[in-house]
Amino acid sequence: MITPRPWIEAFAPATVSNLGPGFDCLGLAVCRAGDRVRARRRDEPGVVLSLVEGDGGKLPREVERNTAAVAAAWLLRRHAPDRGVELQLHKGLPLGSGLGSSGASACAAAVAVNAALELSLPETTLVEAARHAEGVACGTPHPDNVAPCIVGGIVLIPALDPLRLVSLPVPESLWLALYTPGVSVATADARAVLPRQVTLPDTVTQAARLGLLVHALHLGDLALLGEAVVDDIVEPARAGLIPGYLEAKAACVEAGALACSISGAGPTTFALAADEGRARALLEILDEAYTGVGVAGQGMVDRVGPGARVTSPALH
Ligand code: HSE
Repeated sequence: MITPRPWIEAFAPATVSNLGPGFDCLGLAVCRAGDRVRARRRDEPGVVLSLVEGDGGKLPREVERNTAAVAAAWLLRRHAPDRGVELQLHKGLPLGSGLGSSGASACAAAVAVNAALELSLPETTLVEAARHAEGVACGTPHPDNVAPCIVGGIVLIPALDPLRLVSLPVPESLWLALYTPGVSVATADARAVLPRQVTLPDTVTQAARLGLLVHALHLGDLALLGEAVVDDIVEPARAGLIPGYLEAKAACVEAGALACSISGAGPTTFALAADEGRARALLEILDEAYTGVGVAGQGMVDRVGPGARVTSPALH
């Protein structure tokens, strides 16, 4: 009788990307919410996705279209072409939420497969695998969810070819309020509304804000960080996709949020605060605002956290 190989389970966190001026090149990982993938070796080459749960039946089950399986298949093709793996995906994150849901599944799979097959691949390779899966899911292999999802913390991606990942300092007292209103926004749709061209003055302002943001993180200056988390290019184009967003943001700013903007492609709205109590107060304000326009959803307060990791015992 063949003894089944042990399952290796990995957890990958939700992420907040763009963070105002860092469209497609900046993101952070949070602590608590995320997806889980279990992986185990199989004797035949290739990827089998034997279970997907927690998605209400909405995600594709085909290996060619499910981001967890796509990331695993990418890793196998390049780094273990004769090996095989079975995957099980347990969704913890809502779909189409702007919390890096598709990326988290891909990252959890990449980490689980890396461990189950004992490949010892570097983080950049795991990010490349997950980025490829993002491309399949939404048409663009953007790295700003999957990079912080793998690496943890706040990550800047200054170059794609070759991929460069820069971890930025995380201010100790930084808290986030994250509210996902009850509407779903597909990343592809949120990208379709973006301007094709941007004026030079707008580009200069956005570049200056991103520079200020990096400076603020190095100083640990939360007021300066709040000043930098402003986006006059992407946010105005997407605000119309999220009912009540502008009112919710105005209420947060009025209540003293350090900053408030759209998480990734939305509709999750994030607000920054200097302590947990203020983050909780901002979460209530977001809940009230979105409930008031008929799109009540769910929220949480959280901190910046570590990247995707194996959560089951090691093989040896
Ligand atoms: N940077 C990407 C976007 C993130 O805003 O479209 C999508 O999750």
